[in-house]
Amino acid sequence: MSKIVPEIETRRARRALSEEPVPEEVLARIMTAATYAPSCFNNQPWRFLVVSRDRELEIVKENLTGGNYWAKKAPVIVAVFTRPELDCRLSDRRDYAFFSTGLAVENLVLQATKEGLIAHPIAGYKPLPLKEAFGVDPEMILLTLVIIGYPGDEAHLNDKHRELEHSTRDRKPEDQVIMYNLWMEVGVEQ
Ligand SMILES: Cc1cc2nc3c(=O)[nH]c(=O)nc-3n(C[C@H](O)[C@H](O)[C@H](O)COP(=O)(O)O)c2cc1C
Repeated sequence: MSKIVPEIETRRARRALSEEPVPEEVLARIMTAATYAPSCFNNQPWRFLVVSRDRELEIVKENLTGGNYWAKKAPVIVAVFTRPELDCRLSDRRDYAFFSTGLAVENLVLQATKEGLIAHPIAGYKPLPLKEAFGVDPEMILLTLVIIGYPGDEAHLNDKHRELEHSTRDRKPEDQVIMYNLWMEVGVEQ
């Protein structure tokens, strides 16, 4: 048996969602888990807009890019915001807001996985109309939408996405991204 944390091992960016609602207490736990993430000086630069009401969900879904059609089934979408000024800004371009917010999103995703949910972060949406529709300060950065729902059937997926549901995890060889003790330029290429 793998000794990797089970939720890390089982999490995948799946797309076959059911429309079944997510109970409020489950959603609340997921969001609390997100806020338990560490951040620079405990600045907690993340801001979450949890969207689960029909009218508001409709607005978010209208602003997805075409390839994210599958997310229209989701009963919950969490919009994740931050901006550099909300966390440490240190020398050599270390703007930690994005880093800390990413940690919070991973907490959210892993707690959702533990709850038996799919939680799939996406970048394919139109941020400007979304910020405007919800009255969000234009200076805030809508970093990701996390698409959340229980696993459902695959009938609404296109062929490529149906195949991906059953694919093995695709990762670069570890020796291209992990170096022990000595830096080598292998990490610099795409
Ligand atoms: C920042 C970010 C943006 C992503 N954007 C999209 C997206 O717009 N649409 C989509 O279907 N998946 C999106 N994904 C999911 C990735 O494609 C997926 O995580 C990757 O292919 C690895 O697959 P795995 O998570 O199942 O291991 C995104 C993931 C991240 C972290």
